[in-house]
Order: sequence, then structure tokens, then C-alpha cells
Amino acid sequence: MAIVYHQDTRIFTLQTAHTTYQMKVDAYGFLLHLYYGGKTDGDMDYLLTYYDRGFSGNPADVAGDRTYSLDMLPQEYAVMGTGDYRNHALIVHNADGSDCCDLRYVRHQIRDGKYGLTGLPAVSAGEGEAQTLEIVLEDPVSHVQVRLLYGVLAAEDIITRSAVIRNCGSEEIIVEKAASACLDFITGEYDLISFYGRHTMERNVQRTPVAHGSLMIGSLRGTSSHQYNPAVILAEQSATEDAGGCYGLMFVYSGNFQCEAQRDQYEQTRVVMGLQSDKFHYPLGSGESLAVPETVLCYSGEGFGVLSGRYHRLIRKYLIRGRYADCPRPVLINSWEASYFDFSGETILSLAREAADLGIDMVVMDDGWFGKRPDDNSGLGDWQVNEEKLGCSLGELIRRVNGLGVKFGIWIEPEMVSEDSDLYRQHPDWAMRVPGRKPVYGRNQLVLDFSRKDVRDAVFEQICAVLDQGNIEYVKWDMNRSIADVYSAALPAGCQGRVTYDYVLGVYDFLERLMERYPDMLIEGCSGGGGRFDAGMLYYTPQIWCSDNTDAVDRVRIQYGTSFFYPVSVAGSHVSAVPNHQTGRSVSLHTRGVVAMAGTFGYELDPAKLTGEEREEIREQIRRYKDRESVVRCGRYYRLSDPYRDAYAAWMFVSEDKKRVLLSVVMLETHGNMAVTYVRFQGLRPDVLYEDQRTRRRHYGSALMEAGIPMPVEPGEYPAYEMELRAVEDGGS
Ligand code: GLA
Repeated sequence: MAIVYHQDTRIFTLQTAHTTYQMKVDAYGFLLHLYYGGKTDGDMDYLLTYYDRGFSGNPADVAGDRTYSLDMLPQEYAVMGTGDYRNHALIVHNADGSDCCDLRYVRHQIRDGKYGLTGLPAVSAGEGEAQTLEIVLEDPVSHVQVRLLYGVLAAEDIITRSAVIRNCGSEEIIVEKAASACLDFITGEYDLISFYGRHTMERNVQRTPVAHGSLMIGSLRGTSSHQYNPAVILAEQSATEDAGGCYGLMFVYSGNFQCEAQRDQYEQTRVVMGLQSDKFHYPLGSGESLAVPETVLCYSGEGFGVLSGRYHRLIRKYLIRGRYADCPRPVLINSWEASYFDFSGETILSLAREAADLGIDMVVMDDGWFGKRPDDNSGLGDWQVNEEKLGCSLGELIRRVNGLGVKFGIWIEPEMVSEDSDLYRQHPDWAMRVPGRKPVYGRNQLVLDFSRKDVRDAVFEQICAVLDQGNIEYVKWDMNRSIADVYSAALPAGCQGRVTYDYVLGVYDFLERLMERYPDMLIEGCSGGGGRFDAGMLYYTPQIWCSDNTDAVDRVRIQYGTSFFYPVSVAGSHVSAVPNHQTGRSVSLHTRGVVAMAGTFGYELDPAKLTGEEREEIREQIRRYKDRESVVRCGRYYRLSDPYRDAYAAWMFVSEDKKRVLLSVVMLETHGNMAVTYVRFQGLRPDVLYEDQRTRRRHYGSALMEAGIPMPVEPGEYPAYEMELRAVEDGGS
């Protein structure tokens, strides 16, 4: 049993293969957190200490016991109004104007299988794979009820948490802040590792000590954002890639979020992960409820590498869905960096001819095929094929592409509207705008009010009418601006504080309907590259375009940061032309290929501009990629260097049976008279001989892991190396 409750002590214990999570209902009905970390046995309520602390108040129930204060006791779901002055998981504004909420234990239930959340993405696992614990807490005065949900995937060392807030009182309340995870640590010194960035430079790694005060990251942009990813690591200060305790918190949501880490007056640490509280004022009438998106927790006592491995498996096996969840993804060529808006049907056809010749599976027609869209200033919202531009119908174009043995994919941006569009001229109130104010533009476009079902239905109908015109096997779903004018013309003033949340659920609803209607279609998420690269989107889109930056050297770092939570099999990565369109840098086709192969592989260039030699190299790249695709997609991924610190970037994949190994290295620095770089492997079987498939040299796993292998010293910028090893079955004589 992964979840155990003892009636006499009122202690809940959640056990996974290597971790333990414990909490207790105390004598007053408060749910106190006891422990989360490496596996333990027995009750751990002995960890709680009680002292009379000045300026830390005592609830009335404790009858004058000044040693009992929620200002310092570790709590499972901290709420405002009980004398806890740290960051809260929940703030409720009551009808009488007060902000109090006093949650006490009411009942609980343990059941097999993993809970789901209506309208929200969530990890899904069956009865033999997971258990659910549901604890109901209630405020005896306002009758605000909170259902705390825990999903325990014991074999995966994963615990998910969510909360459903229900107004069981008779008067309307406003939820001002709602988190799904609140983790209190009585001891320890921690760093918060977060993944910050900007458009074309996403998910840089930042490690900051959690000091007194509060450290907060999050998004107010309507999407999870390029600026901060909704996944963080709380690491013991000594934790490294290979050693030490660290906790992951991954929010399964694609909109405004907030993560706070705080060290309190008694050197305790609290982390809260949930919905962004600014711009969030969610009214709940009597009987209504609000589900807070889930946070996926994981603890590793062996450093970040093990932590990442667990998240990768979870995402691959229990989060992404659909036909492509578990099968090879097509190698694609995208028209964007090949021709931007300047294309015709003939351009797409010639890309398809090139694709057929080079071994590429699919051609994707990116932005510009619809409405009046010669550039990015008009046309969004008018999802009618511009047959004049294509020179034929979409159906005809797809038939001709398919006739070459090439699959066809298309770009859409359903959430957007250009002011210069028929849709906007007919329905200006469908765009989010604050009445009486001029809007904030982003890429000269406005955002459609996807919190409204009528708006979603109308766009859905238009998009389906396009997708029904032929054999479209892939859709790239884009979202190219941050939301500023949060306002829904369909809602009264008192409900505007729910729009950001309803918008995201509207996007999910649209995606769910799209998946249901086109179950065999592959959807790739995108938001100016990686602006909505999160676990919420992955529930609907099994891959996401990692970044609009296709420069191989920048990508090494972007993909490194991405890899802490997300497996390479979900990160879109393409070889593009040089000089690179974002940085102007030129690196070899070989290096570009090595970097792009650590992702869902493809091309973003005009093959007509390639030399015969380059074409041959591309054919070879695709052969290589297809040969190793299953190891990249299903194998265990290891980071072997820190490309922010080391002079080289190195990563590797090991098949589940540890028989196939792929090593990739990119040298980031070039100097005169270079010292030799040695790269040490990980995850091999020490006693097994591995054979280098190129040189036929054999090495024991132990030697490769302990001593490593030397990289060549060669002139030139950013050389890249690959090595494929296979275990020698016969013991290697
Ligand atoms: C975004 C995407 C690009 C491309 C353009 C089209 O920036 O990230 O890949 O699709 O939009 O406008």
C-alpha cells in the first residue's frame, strides 16, 4: 500500500520506492506536515517542537497553550487567517469582507488509481499504478471546503498534489490565492533552481539561496511564459548533478503561475506552487468549486540527474497522450525559416520534393497560408485558405505532397486575431480589450477571448473546416504574444478576476476537442518557440517547439535547461541554415545535426540552397537519427556537463536495457594549444564491455564512467562529436 493511515495517531504516510511523505491531523484538527524526503519508517511527529514564541499567536482552541502556534508549525496547506504570517497556499475573501479561513480535518478517503481534474490536464495512472488520497478540510464558520488530493505513483517516486476549493456556505466568496502544493521543511538550507529566460533564450538555469524573505518567480502573461518556467527545484545547498537531496515541483498548467520560496524566522523553509495571485480574484457562489492545477512532486537523494530521469519517465508514460505518445515522430521540414511569409503552393511542393529526396517524412506549411497574411500585421482569425497565394486548393496541394510520399502538416494560431481581419471587423468584442482603453498590442495582434465558449466554437468550426480539406497529419499550434488586456465582454465586473484562469481552461477545452476529432493527428505546441513549454500543454501536445532560436550553440544551453524537467522526446529541435537567422553565427552542419538530434528532429531551411555535399550529409543525418530514434525517445538521458560552466556540452542516452549508448559532445571553446577534454559516461553497466561502433575499440563500462574518454583536439569552432557504443553480448573476447 502506497498510502497508509493510522486511526490512533491520525498520521498519513505516503510511500514511494525511495521516498516518504508524512502528515498528521493533530488534536485540534489542523493538518500538519511532518516530513518529505528519502525513505523512512515509523511515525515522525516527534519532529514537531512546541515553544512559547513571542509575537506568534495561538489559536483559541489550545486554551492558553502559548507553545502552540501555526506561525511556526509545519503545515500541509497554509491558509491566511490562522496566525501564520508566512506565504499562504490559500487566501479567501469572505462575504463579510474578512480574509479568514480556518481549515480543519473533516474526513478522508484512500482509493486505487489516480484522481483526475475536470477541465484540467493531469497525470493519469491506472489502479495498479497509483493510489489517491483525498483529505477534506473545512472552515466551520464560512463552510469553505478544501479537498486536498494526493496521487501517489509509488514505482515512479512521484507524488502529485492538487486542491479543489468548494464554497459550501450560502454566500459568495472570492478566492484570492490558490496553490496546489505547499511544502514546509523544518530543517535544512536550500537553493531554489529556476529556469528563467526571454524570447529566443528560454530556460537558463539560475540557482539562488533561499534566504530570509521570500523569493518569487511566476508569470502574469497569460501563458506560462518564456520568462520563468513553471517548474523549480528546491535543492540542498550541497546538491549537485550526481549527489545530494533535491525536490522538484512541476506545475501542470499553461497560464499565470506563482512559485514562492521562503526562509522563516526559525530557519524553516516553505515552498508554495500555484496560481498567480495578482490578477486572480475568483468568485465562488454557493455550491461552486474551483480546481487548482496539480503540482507534480519528486524527491531525489542522488542529485538532479536522478530527479530529471524520474520526471522524464513520468511525462513520457503518464502525461502525454494520443497516438504519438509512444511512437516515433516524423522528421519534418518547416517552411518558416525556409521562406517565412513568402511562399506559394509551388514553394511547399518543392520543399516536399526535397523532403522526398532527402528522406524527410513531412513538410509543414507554417504561417501565411490563410486570409490576407502577407506579413504578421493582418489576417489572424480568418482561417480560410488563401488559394490565390497557394495557386490551388489546400486539398489539391496536400494530395500532391502526399503523392510524393511526404506527409503534410500546417500551422495555426487559433487564440489570436488581427484588427485587420474579417473576424475582428465582424466581432470586435471577441478580442480581449478593456472598455474605454486602447489595447496593448503584441506582434500587432490581439488575443481572442477564449474564456468564452461561443468564441471558441466559432474558431473551432473554422479550423476544422480547414483540417477537413485533406490528409493533415500534423498541426503546429502557436501563440505569439503575452496577454495584457485581461477582460471578457461576456462577464460582469465582479467576475473579471477569473478570466485568466478561464482562458487557459478554454485553450485546454479547444485542444481536447481537437484531439477527440483528429485522434491520429500530431499536435506540436509553440508560443514564439518555448513561451508555453509546460506540463499542461504536454497533456495535449506531445511535442513543443523548444525555442525560436535555432542557433546550435545557444540551443545547447536552452536544451540543457529544458532537460531538467522535460524529456528530449518532447522538445522540437531543427537544423537551420547558416549564418543563423537569430544570431548570425555559422557552425558546421555536423554540429547543427548533433544538437538537433537531442529533440524531435527536423529542418528549418531551404534545401534548394544546399550544396550536393550538404545534401548527402543531411541524408546521412536522417539515416542516423532514424536508426537511433528509439534510444533518444525511450532511453535514459544524462547531462554530462554544465554548458554554462564547462568548456564543452556533453549529454548521452542509454537504452533501457543499457545495451545501446549514444554520446554527443559539442566543444564550446577553442584556444591555441588546447588541453584535452575527457568526458565521463554515466549509467552504463560497469562490468560490461562496450564497443565503439566506429572504431570497434572496446572499453568496460567502469572505465568509461570512472576515467572517461579523451575528445580530439582539433582546430575550428564548435566541433561536435558523437559516439555510439553497444554492449558486447558474448562478454567481449
Ligand atoms: C512563431 C513560431 C515560429 C513561426 C512563427 C510564424 O514565432 O515560434 O516558429 O511559426 O511564429 O509566425
